[in-house]
Amino acid sequence: MNNTDISIKTIVADGNDNDSIKTAAKILNNEGLVAFPTETVYGLGADALNPIAAAKIYAAKGRPSDNPLIVHIADTDDVYKLASNVPEKAKQLMEAFWPGPLTIILPKKPTVPDGTTGGLNTVAIRMPSHPVALSLIKESGVYIAAPSANTSGRPSPTEASHVIADMDGKIEMILDGGAVGIGIESTIVDLTEAIPTILRPGFITKSMLENIIGEVTIDKALIEPAPDLRPKAPGMKYTHYAPKGELTIIEACNESSNENYSKNDEINCIDNCINDHEKKYDKVIAKINELVKQKTDEGYRVAVIATSENAASYKCENVLTVGANTDGATIAAKLYGTLRKCDDIGADYIYSEAFDKGELGGAIMNRLLKAAGHRVIKL
Ligand code: TXA
Ligand code: MG
Repeated sequence: MNNTDISIKTIVADGNDNDSIKTAAKILNNEGLVAFPTETVYGLGADALNPIAAAKIYAAKGRPSDNPLIVHIADTDDVYKLASNVPEKAKQLMEAFWPGPLTIILPKKPTVPDGTTGGLNTVAIRMPSHPVALSLIKESGVYIAAPSANTSGRPSPTEASHVIADMDGKIEMILDGGAVGIGIESTIVDLTEAIPTILRPGFITKSMLENIIGEVTIDKALIEPAPDLRPKAPGMKYTHYAPKGELTIIEACNESSNENYSKNDEINCIDNCINDHEKKYDKVIAKINELVKQKTDEGYRVAVIATSENAASYKCENVLTVGANTDGATIAAKLYGTLRKCDDIGADYIYSEAFDKGELGGAIMNRLLKAAGHRVIKL
């Protein structure tokens, strides 16, 4: 059956109900697709070792076939069934961060089909901590290949309603586990080279990794996006997480640019850096209000994405608040839902502050910059 041609009746069920987990497990065992909550974002699951099942994920998402899937496991020992070599540093990271929002890249065993790894000779593996995800993996008895459960290019789903919006009629079942806790995808670390490399920043930060295994680098293509630099995680090269309207980030030059996304910006900005916090935001607010007025006058629908400290200062019909400036965890948890809200209100133009503070700043800005297609106005 081709998922793109025939509409499937999608069951939405309570993920905390045992019977629902059993039904979902049977669907996975019959080569079907089930969306389920993880602690990061909702995943779209299929039997990872069955190429027919895994292929259905690509059809339902409209995902390019060269973009490999993460294999989700519920028992650390299963890593040895999927990977041909498990270096000491991988074992240390598994011990420290699993179950949890960390994905590791290792050389794959032949049992992992090319259809799951996008033809790569490596495999991405993660043990999620969400109880519904763990129950589903255990009950089905299979490893679950699961990308985020969104249509390719759209923001990842952080609650079941987001999955329904993208996947209704395309997959057999959605397990509703409520809103996820973290809200941005797992940190991906490549352990196939001597020095481990972060391919996608996330909740587990560089310094958290370095505390366990020593030196860790960040994929250069993430720090300074350039046409000749290809990210090592194939999915990171696509425009992503994007709302339908045109999103622009307005950023004042910043004394605390985050290592994970803008080393160059830091160097470029040193000369005209604005150290005074309030002045910095005054400039951002003034610029955003100017752009809002211009586009509103032209007849467009406009939205602003703001920190709670500044929200009241915007003269815009649609001000969407993501959380306090210093509260990275809340901003991360609300970011994708906020980008989806921009679509719900039909925003043609969206202006966002930069959220680069604290430990999670790098991961948040990595997603926001991709959602904006790297459209940034620096003041
Ligand atoms: O938090 C998460 O990781 C969520 C939940 C559902 O677990 N999953 C997720 O999957 O974000 P997805 O498919 O949306 O993103 C997986 C990323 C893509 O950028 C892909 O290119 C990369 O992982 N990836 C997968 N296998 C890889 C490999 N062998 N080498 C390099 N990158 C890989
Ligand atoms: Mg994704």
